[in-house]
Amino acid sequence: MIEISNLSFRYREGAEPILYGIDLAIPDGSFVGITGAAGSGKSTLTYAFNGIIPHCYPGDFYGSVTIDGLDTCEASLTDISRLVGSVCQDIDSQMVSSVVEDEVLYGLENFGVPKDQVEGRIAEALEAMGISDLRHRGIAELSGGQKQKVAVASVIALKPRVLVLDEPTAELDPASSLAVFELLARYARENGTTVIVVEQKIALLSDFADMLLIVDGGKVRFQGAPAEVLEHSDELLEVGVNCPRSTSLVNRLRARGLVDAPAARNVDEAVGVCKRVLSGEGASA
Ligand SMILES: Nc1ncnc2c1ncn2[C@@H]1O[C@H](COP(=O)(O)OP(=O)(O)O)[C@@H](O)[C@H]1O
Ligand SMILES: [Mg+2]
Repeated sequence: MIEISNLSFRYREGAEPILYGIDLAIPDGSFVGITGAAGSGKSTLTYAFNGIIPHCYPGDFYGSVTIDGLDTCEASLTDISRLVGSVCQDIDSQMVSSVVEDEVLYGLENFGVPKDQVEGRIAEALEAMGISDLRHRGIAELSGGQKQKVAVASVIALKPRVLVLDEPTAELDPASSLAVFELLARYARENGTTVIVVEQKIALLSDFADMLLIVDGGKVRFQGAPAEVLEHSDELLEVGVNCPRSTSLVNRLRARGLVDAPAARNVDEAVGVCKRVLSGEGASA
């Protein structure tokens, strides 16, 4: 369980806090999607989960963040990193090796994983990300999608309880983005890992997340199951989050009293709602 209580944070160089009064409770095994406009504080919020604030960026940190009872202000970054694995926004800066296998090995050695477990951990992590065949390849020759999978594999090899990923699909085409999310979700489900992922594409997030957080101006403006959050498509647009047109369409039909269905996350769900309306069945879920 991750608990954040009344968290506010101001970077030392900044005039104003970047996070304000954040309260969150994230049950184990949740898949949490974070979205919001550029500069709203999403990356800073991820730093609260992995201890980068207050340990790496000094500033005014109020409130508390606990991961499985471990208070991130009191714990060392090393102890936090045993629970929370992170893939940062700029993966090239995170990569330390030139060959895929060495990249995964690096973290395992740093964590002092016993030698007799290392081979199994590397093979499992590459397998989980569907990149066993890339094991001996040079990182420089990989595509963006392949590099993302290597970055995720290096972290899951460490078996963290919580995985934090900041815009892991920013550079990827829609098919590779979906592939990364599918692999991630399957891994998390099989291992009971909590996933916290920042992602611009709310439609993609909504298909995978159990909980969406919409960050605006350093506050969590909306939080809940995707269908609950997506009901607010007009307000989301005001804070710079574009919902799919299928979502807005169903919300408009609901606003006019034509349907009583939850928000549609994608075209298929919207089509289902429209078919029910047109057949005169009403469109409650
Ligand atoms: N290390 C830092 N020092 C000072 N200000 C920062 C730092 N990192 C981010 N900020 C500021 O915090 C705000 C939120 O940034 P960030 O958390 O990166 O937002 P997002 O990920 O939503 O784009 C921005 O105004 C940014 O300039
Ligand atoms: Mg960011």
